[in-house]
Amino acid sequence: MRFLITAGPTREPIDPVRYLSNRSSGKMGYALADAALARGHEVILVSGPVSIRAPEGVTLVPVETAREMYDAVAETIAGADVAIFCAAVADYRVAEVADEKIKKTDESLTLTLVRNPDILGSARNAFDFRGILVGFAAETEKLAEHALDKLRRKGCDLLAANDVSRTDIAFDRDENEVELFYKDGRREGLPLASKGQIAKEIIRRVEGLVE
Ligand code: C5P
Repeated sequence: MRFLITAGPTREPIDPVRYLSNRSSGKMGYALADAALARGHEVILVSGPVSIRAPEGVTLVPVETAREMYDAVAETIAGADVAIFCAAVADYRVAEVADEKIKKTDESLTLTLVRNPDILGSARNAFDFRGILVGFAAETEKLAEHALDKLRRKGCDLLAANDVSRTDIAFDRDENEVELFYKDGRREGLPLASKGQIAKEIIRRVEGLVE
């Protein structure tokens, strides 16, 4: 099958030298790409800036901003059987990016932020994607409630949620623990394991959804 996977953070410029971003390392998305490849699937990996190397054999589409990620997904999703959105997309970008480096003239500085496009939320509508759709949710509270709400609103078949308030898992860690929520109401916990192992489990379940 053909997999489209988004991974990593996005980087939203403020001026030529500064940006807004988040703590995503890309490890979970890259582990998913690796696991899908190992199962013989084709993988397009749309990735924000990360410091890890893409697995040999994937088609890497490097992007910086959420809007670039949106465009890359819009261009490639039609050919995919499975789309897994693992990227930590910045919800907002700076309304007006300064052409020159901003000088520290005043005691305070106000940046106006505007909403970025919701890439996962566009899959079923704007992109008319009919394949298997998998979302991730990073939550700090009310994990199940928020995950189920996201699953339904965005038309996912499967949503993997993790608790990012815990310091032993998730951001920049090599291990993760996720709770899987299925469209049909099933719910399943994947106990603490390496991101590689979690990725394998997720890919296996995605394959099960296609059969
Ligand atoms: O950030 P949040 O927890 O809402 O992300 C939920 C899911 O939506 C993730 O799968 C993420 O990759 C995706 N997402 C997206 N575009 C956005 C925000 C989130 O594709 N602008």
